Amino acid sequence: MRILITGGAGALGRELVSAFHGHQVTACDHRALDVTDRDRVLQVLGRVEPDAVVHTAAWTNVDGCERDPDRAYLVNALGTRHVVEGARLVGAIVCYLSTDYVFDGRGDRPYTEWDATNPLSVYGRSKLGGEGELDPGDLVVRTSWLAGPTGRSFVRTVLERAGTGQQLEVVDDQKGCPTFVSDLAEMVRRLVVTRRRGLYHVTNQGVASWYELARDVLAVAAMDPDVVRPIATSEQDPPRPAPRPAYSVLDNAAMRLARLPLLDDYHEPLARLVKELLA
Ligand SMILES: NC(=O)c1ccc[n+]([C@@H]2O[C@H](COP(=O)([O-])OP(=O)(O)OC[C@H]3O[C@@H](n4cnc5c(N)ncnc54)[C@H](OP(=O)(O)O)[C@@H]3O)[C@@H](O)[C@H]2O)c1
Repeated sequence: MRILITGGAGALGRELVSAFHGHQVTACDHRALDVTDRDRVLQVLGRVEPDAVVHTAAWTNVDGCERDPDRAYLVNALGTRHVVEGARLVGAIVCYLSTDYVFDGRGDRPYTEWDATNPLSVYGRSKLGGEGELDPGDLVVRTSWLAGPTGRSFVRTVLERAGTGQQLEVVDDQKGCPTFVSDLAEMVRRLVVTRRRGLYHVTNQGVASWYELARDVLAVAAMDPDVVRPIATSEQDPPRPAPRPAYSVLDNAAMRLARLPLLDDYHEPLARLVKELLA
C-alpha cells in the first residue's frame, strides 16, 4: 500500500515508518506538511496519492493547549479536517490517532469504545474535535500514555532524574495504560493494511498510576524504586494548567471482541525500552 504519515518526526511517527516497512511510505514532518495549511495538505496528498493517511500530527503539549485553545483546535481539529478533505480527493482512508483524554476519568471501570466521552481539557476537546472530522469509513485508534525511544517521555525523565540522585514526587491518583510506540505502531499497521474501519482502543495491557510506573521503570533499571514518593494531583507544585482524567483505562473491547491479539502487558516493552535507553 501507499502510506502517508503526518507528524512523521514525532515519537509514534518515527516508529510507524519502521512498522510499514515493505510498503511505499512517505513520512512528512511538520515542516514538510503543516496540517493547518489547507492548500499544502491538498497539494501533498494530491501528489502522493496515498491509499491511507496515518494522521499522527498533533499539538500534544497538554498544558500548552490549555493556555492557547485556538492553536489546539487549529492543529488538532481543523488540521484533521484538512487531512480528511485531502484524503477524500484521492480516495484514501484516514487512520487518526486519538487519546484517552477524551474521557473525564471519573469512573472506576475501563472505558470501551462505546462509552460516552467528556473531555476535561482543551487538548482532549480538540482531539475529540478531530475524531468528529472523520467519516464512518475511516479508522480511529485511541491510545494512552505513550512512551518510546525518541522524544520527551515519562520513562526517560524518571531515569534521568533518578540517575542524578534526585528524589522524585510522582502522582499516584491518575491511572492509565502505559503504551509503547513499537507495539502500537505494529497494531496500527495491522489495522490499516487489513482495512479496518471505525474506532479501536489500542493500548498495552496492564494498569498503573504514574507513581507505580515510575517504580517499575527504576526496578527494571536496577535502581532504587524507593526514591519515588507518591503524591496526590492536588499536591503538584506548581499545579498543572490542564486537568487530567483520574482513571482513563481503555478497555480494548473492539479488538477483544473482533478476536484481534491484544498488545503485551506493558512490563515487557517497558523492560526493552529501559534497556535501550540505558545502552
Ligand atoms: N503522547 C501520548 O501520550 C499520547 C497519548 C494518546 C494519544 N496520543 C496521540 O498520538 C499521536 C502521536 O503522538 P506522539 O506522542 O508521537 O506526539 P509527538 O511526538 O508530539 O508528535 C506529534 C508530531 O506532530 C507534529 N506537529 C505539530 N503540529 C503540527 C502541524 N501543525 N502540522 C504537522 N505536524 C505537526 C509535531 O512536530 P513539532 O514537534 O515539530 O511541532 C510532532 O512531530 C498524536 O496524535 C497524539 O495526540 C499521544
